[in-house]
Amino acid sequence: MPKKTIADLPDLTGKKVLVRVDFNVPMDEAGNISNDRRIVGALPTLRTLLDRGAALVVMSHLGQPDGDPTSSDFRSKNARLTMDRVAVRLGEKLGRPVTKLNDVVGLQVQHAADALKPGDVLLLENVRFHPGEKAKDKDFAQQLANLADVYVNDAFGTCHRSDASMVAVPAAFKAAGKPRVVGLLVAKELEILDGLLSAPKRPMVGLLGGAKVSDKVGFIKSLLSRVDKVLIGGAMTYLFLKAQGHKIGNSFCETKAKEGQKTPVQMAQEILELGKDKIILPVDHLAVTDIKAFDSAKVVDGEIPDGLAGVDIGPKTIALYRTEIAQAATVVWNGPMGKFEDEPYSQGTRSIANALSQAHAVTVVGGGETAEAVEEFGLAEKMTHVSTGGGAFLEYVEGTPFKALAEIDDR
Ligand code: ADP
Ligand code: 3PG
Ligand code: MG
Repeated sequence: MPKKTIADLPDLTGKKVLVRVDFNVPMDEAGNISNDRRIVGALPTLRTLLDRGAALVVMSHLGQPDGDPTSSDFRSKNARLTMDRVAVRLGEKLGRPVTKLNDVVGLQVQHAADALKPGDVLLLENVRFHPGEKAKDKDFAQQLANLADVYVNDAFGTCHRSDASMVAVPAAFKAAGKPRVVGLLVAKELEILDGLLSAPKRPMVGLLGGAKVSDKVGFIKSLLSRVDKVLIGGAMTYLFLKAQGHKIGNSFCETKAKEGQKTPVQMAQEILELGKDKIILPVDHLAVTDIKAFDSAKVVDGEIPDGLAGVDIGPKTIALYRTEIAQAATVVWNGPMGKFEDEPYSQGTRSIANALSQAHAVTVVGGGETAEAVEEFGLAEKMTHVSTGGGAFLEYVEGTPFKALAEIDDR
C-alpha cells in the first residue's frame, strides 16, 4: 500500500479527525435507507479512530441534490437528502451518540468542532448542500480543514470525484502541514483491486452485465485486456446481438450516440472485434411481451423474436456460465444478468451469484446494482470482496488516476 493509512498515524489522544466517508446510501420512496453497506463499510475506520482517543467530524454527500444550493427553496426541495436518517443509522451501528449538524461549514459547525471531546462524533450536513463542494471552492475547503488536525479519506465510492471534500480539503490540510491518510475501507479496496490488476490468478473470467455499454466502454476495454474470457449478460446483451445483425424484438437497447461519440452499435462492434477470442454472449434468454407481463415470460433460443423483450439470461446460458465460473481462478463481476429487481426475472443474476459463492476462485464484485443484488441474495459474505464503489470501481479498473488519492500522503 503506497499511501499512508490510519495505522501510520501517531498518537491520536485528544486529536480531531475529519473523515470523508461515502454514505451515499440507497433510499426507498419513503426515504428509509434500503441498504447500509456503505455505512457498515466505514465502521472499522471510525471505531479504530475513536478507540485511539480521537474525536470525529464525519462528512459525506448524499444523492445528487437538485438546483442551486444558494437558492431559497433549495433545502425544502431537497429535504429527503439531509443526513438525518444516516446520522440515526450511524449512531445505531457505532453504538454511541452521533450529533448531526444542519450545516456543512460556518460558525455553529466550528463551535461544535471546537467543543469536541475524545469519543465524540459529529456528522455534518450533506456536503452537496453547500455550493463550494461541487465548485471545488478553496475557501469552503479551508473552513472544513480548520475543523480538525487530521484528514482521513475513507470514501472509496467517491474517489473518482474531484469535489472539494475529496481534493481541495486534503490540499488545505497539506498546506497547514497536517496529515492526510486513507481509512481501512479505502486501503482494503485498493489492495484488492491492485492485486486484481497486477497479478491475478488465471484463468480470469470477467462477468459483464447491466444496462448500458456506453457507460462502461473504458471498463470493458480494460477488462478485455486483462481477462481470459468475458461472459456477457443483462440488457447490454441486446446491443451486442443487434451489432451482430440479430433480432432483438422490443428489448432494451441504447440507440442514441452521446455528443461527439460513436453510436452504441458502433461501440459494440468495436468491442466485439477487440474481444473476438474472449467474449461469450448468451445463447438463450427469458423474454416477455411486456416488462410488467410476468406471466408471459418464456425461454427463447438465439435471438429475440419480434414482439418480445429480453429480461434475463436463459437456462442454457446459466449452465454455460456456471461451468466457466467453476473453472476460473479469478472472477470479476459488474452488472446484473437481468432485470433482477423483479423476482420473476432474477434467476440469472441469482444463479450466477450462487456460482460465484461456490467457486474456488478469487471473486470480486463491483457496481451499485450488482452489489445490491449480491447483498439481497444474502451472498455478500461468500465473495472475496464486494466493492462499495460503483463508478469508482469501474474507473479504477479502467486505470483512471484519482486526484483524491494523489492528495493522500505517501508512505
Ligand atoms: P451496476 O450499477 O451494477 O454497474 P448497471 O447500472 O449497469 O449496474 O445496471 C443495472 C440495471 O440494469 C439493473 O437495475 C437492472 O434492472 C438493469 N437490467 C439488467 N438487465 C436488464 C434487462 N434485460 N432489461 C432491462 N433492464 C435490465
Ligand atoms: C456513487 O454512488 O457512485 C458515489 O457515491 C458517487 O456519487 P455521484 O455519482 O453522485 O458523484
Ligand atoms: Mg448502476
